[in-house]
Amino acid sequence: MKLSAEISQWSDALPKLFQQAFSDSEGEDEGKVIGALVSDLLSNTPQDDLRAAIAHDGPKVLGCILFSSLRFERDTRQVFLMSPVAVRTDHQKSGIGQRLIGFGLDGLRNANVDYVVTYGDPAYYGKSGFLPISEDFAPSPMPLSHPHGWLGQALTEAGAAPFKGPSHCVEAFNKPELW
Ligand SMILES: CC(C)(COP(=O)(O)OP(=O)(O)OC[C@H]1O[C@@H](n2cnc3c(N)ncnc32)[C@H](O)[C@@H]1OP(=O)(O)O)[C@@H](O)C(=O)NCCC(=O)NCCS
Repeated sequence: MKLSAEISQWSDALPKLFQQAFSDSEGEDEGKVIGALVSDLLSNTPQDDLRAAIAHDGPKVLGCILFSSLRFERDTRQVFLMSPVAVRTDHQKSGIGQRLIGFGLDGLRNANVDYVVTYGDPAYYGKSGFLPISEDFAPSPMPLSHPHGWLGQALTEAGAAPFKGPSHCVEAFNKPELW
């Protein structure tokens, strides 16, 4: 298995990977929603605002995480949202998800990104350093239906202080039903 941050050569395969992984775990409707979100992110996000961590075995994609920028109106620090995350159903529970997170966070650190947030299962993301955060610490771009899933971690010393909102996600995430 190899890890890559190169998006362009996988852009056809990634929506299918996410649709399949989320259909298997959350049902077909959720699979379609996340597949469409990934297509939208890949097609409509400015290049500097989107990063990826991709696990592959030759031409076969095994897993992927997308990172998109989150801007805080009154704050110049760089923040990315880590979402969505998926590993092929037939390759889950072999450590690929955790390796992808580590690879993605290393890439963000090398780009001097200050902070990363995610929105998901605290038990899973806690394994890679994410802790629950409040809306006072980092205001979310949309109202959260599961506030306990709002998680984050500092990647630089400057990232440890609270963020001044409001915050703005990229266009593909700008839909209340995704939050
Ligand atoms: C969630 C997902 C990305 C995890 O990827 P993975 O490659 O299977 O995870 P890993 O093998 O790296 O898991 C490492 C550990 O996390 C555990 N784990 C996996 N999913 C978990 C979950 N939802 N909650 C808590 N722990 C979880 C594993 O049991 C394993 O534990 P161990 O190290 O103590 O044995 C993958 O299951 C997936 O794609 N699921 C469908 C889509 C999805 O739900 N995405 C996340 C939305 S927030």
